[in-house]
Amino acid sequence: MIKTALFSNVDTQQLNICGELIRSGELVAFPTETVYGLGANALDSMAVEKIFKVKNRPADNPLIAHISDPSMLSGLVKDFPKELEELTDRFWPGALTLVLPRTEKVPDIVSAGLPTVAVRCPSHPIANGLIRAAGVPIVAPSANLSGRPSPTTFDHCVEDLFGKIAAIIDGGKSEIGVESTVLLPLGGRRLKLLRPGGITIEMLESQGFQVEMDPAILSPVKEGQKVSSPGMLHRHYAPKAPMTIVAGKAEAVVRAIQAKEEEGVWVLAFEEYLPLFKNALSFGSEKDSKSQANALFDALRKFDSLPCKAIFAMEPSQEGEGLAVYNRLLRAASFQIIPAERL
Ligand code: TXA
Ligand code: MG
Repeated sequence: MIKTALFSNVDTQQLNICGELIRSGELVAFPTETVYGLGANALDSMAVEKIFKVKNRPADNPLIAHISDPSMLSGLVKDFPKELEELTDRFWPGALTLVLPRTEKVPDIVSAGLPTVAVRCPSHPIANGLIRAAGVPIVAPSANLSGRPSPTTFDHCVEDLFGKIAAIIDGGKSEIGVESTVLLPLGGRRLKLLRPGGITIEMLESQGFQVEMDPAILSPVKEGQKVSSPGMLHRHYAPKAPMTIVAGKAEAVVRAIQAKEEEGVWVLAFEEYLPLFKNALSFGSEKDSKSQANALFDALRKFDSLPCKAIFAMEPSQEGEGLAVYNRLLRAASFQIIPAERL
């Protein structure tokens, strides 16, 4: 156990204390607009190593470097194609991560040995203030133990990391609730979507970019298959009880799940359908993907504190922000998805 300082209502002085902790090689969990991050000095490989130890994160899963201003890019990436400036002008600060060829300043451990580094400029004032106070880029995976749902509240971070890191900063509930959109630029105006998030395919296309989806977003990676984003390989976001997504029209899905209800069975349901089940948690409204993104991880965590043997989830839409929700839910369910009529 180490002593974990807990900060709430942070002011400049406290941000400076946390910035100093980062500079001296310690880990600080902090809020961002997507999910909470577990931060370390991106240029200090010993500090970065602590992240992998504390989270029990597989060493082949690279980290995102967070910057407070696009001017910090030059130290991290080799060159920054002109077209991409249109993306960063439009979506930074915000929930967009770009994977680019890295400079030799970026330690190997950050990139898990890949020739690229992922970079994001978060919009949350505490995240931004912390990076400025530290004066260095901050690598930050989601501040959960590996495999658990990402943290969207201070309490989630305390649950996973208290006694393991130097400080945790409270910033209230995460605004978006799912992690950033990760893009691999393919040259010109072509982008490969490695992980869907708050910045949607439609938003990128409306800026005149062509987006191709990595196959690993919607289907499991086969053994030995090469992946563009190692994070896709690992079991993720999963509650302890096995989860099954039930696909189809809501009425059919409700009926199929009702037929399976017994002790220990819980349902992840849209709020409109909650009263129809004996044991259910809400993950937002059926027609509102934003509200689903916002509620998903908290609900997945809550199942672990319930006497729950099996979980059935209603199928979310894949439109817009829905794709990010669908992608996380698929992983939480280990890709177990069954049509209502075959449940
Ligand atoms: O919203 C977010 O992105 C949050 C907050 C804290 O900023 N961070 C986050 O980090 O979600 P993490 O480590 O949980 O997810 C990083 C993802 C992983 O899927 C990883 O494989 C991918 O980004 N990634 C990182 N560096 C990469 C690289 N060089 N090439 C391809 N994928 C990379
Ligand atoms: Mg994560």
